[in-house]
Amino acid sequence: MAYRIAVLISGSGSNLQAIIDRIEQGVLDARITLVVSNKPGVKGLERAEKHSLPFAVIEHKQYPSREDFDAALVRVIKESGADGVILAGFMRIVTPVLINAFSGNILNIHPSIQPSFPGVNAQKQAAEYAVRISGCSIHFVDEKMDHGPIIIQAAVPALAEDDEKSLGSRILILEHRIFPQAVHWLAQGRLEVRGRTVVVRDAPPPAVVHIDSFPALVSPGLEQGF
Ligand code: GRF
Repeated sequence: MAYRIAVLISGSGSNLQAIIDRIEQGVLDARITLVVSNKPGVKGLERAEKHSLPFAVIEHKQYPSREDFDAALVRVIKESGADGVILAGFMRIVTPVLINAFSGNILNIHPSIQPSFPGVNAQKQAAEYAVRISGCSIHFVDEKMDHGPIIIQAAVPALAEDDEKSLGSRILILEHRIFPQAVHWLAQGRLEVRGRTVVVRDAPPPAVVHIDSFPALVSPGLEQGF
């Protein structure tokens, strides 16, 4: 049976879409049991509906604490039968209540080369800092924000004329490539965590991929179809 995932979102859900697309293409071996948004009316929910995926809105504002909110998430995610939890642009700090319920099976995406620029607005922070290389990271979730063991990263050039938007859209193209890939490895049970190091069994070697006219360095490399 395919590995079952719940995808948590807060907004546009373009990363959710990338995961849906790879599943529908038969490349990513997983099944989405539930999409949860902490905000009503976001585009990501429309995407879930369009693809006939179960979805729910659980507003964090309705709960007295982060732990109570996470307990509500755990309830619906468990009910859906999910094995793992994918934080795809989910703009909430999660607590041990969620982390312990799905220990070792929670992934997050962060739009920077970690450990740089944790927290919100990573692309804005990078553009204002005027870095020359930026990118994105997929990591296991632990109790510190944007911190857990890194599975895969992609690096893109940052240009002198870049602003948050132009840099962010270049990074986003790579987010859509590496996130489904990391979910696939998780689903196949190919990720082994040794301290901070994640070993991907039979991972392709680091590779350069071309997006528009830009080279991007992806490590580990991407498998066929990602
Ligand atoms: C992405 O840049 C993600 O890395 C960040 O929030 C954005 C979400 O985009 N944390 P989307 O909702 O997947 O389109």
